[in-house]
Amino acid sequence: MIDERMRTEINKQINAELYSAYLYLSMATYFEDQGLPGFANWMYCQNQEETFHGMKFLHYLVERGGRVDLLAIDEPPREWASPLAVLEHVYEHEQHVTSLINNLVDIAEEIKDRATFNELQWFVEEQVEEEASAETLVTKLRMIKDTPGPLLMIDNELATRVFTPPDASE
Ligand code: FEO
Repeated sequence: MIDERMRTEINKQINAELYSAYLYLSMATYFEDQGLPGFANWMYCQNQEETFHGMKFLHYLVERGGRVDLLAIDEPPREWASPLAVLEHVYEHEQHVTSLINNLVDIAEEIKDRATFNELQWFVEEQVEEEASAETLVTKLRMIKDTPGPLLMIDNELATRVFTPPDASE
């Protein structure tokens, strides 16, 4: 049976992952509205990835005999100043999520919950990728300064992204 403090914190993290999914869905609709379907596709993939993260935490909690509490999901923003502003928001948000995961690791260590500590290692590695992919896009967009030609080239590139769920046994 999982420790009550850990259970509470994992429930909050399920909510944080589902908020991330909702935030990226909002960004996808922003890009649809801007006529940038490739960026929208990238955000739909982000949405699926975050839903996967939320479900991974949910299944873990169930496996450990913990009750899942589905908390209210905040309303995400709907408007941004530019594509660059959206990606800067993604990057900042992922850094925030990394700090939440690190906090969970600290708690797991403090209460000597080895199983949760092990489970969290997958998320620690995942955050490295999440931050890196957002940072790469921010760098590209800063270089082109939202000029239409290169922006459409990046849009075409992002249209090819497909979300593949990681192996459930990982
Ligand atoms: Fe679930 Fe993007 O962190």
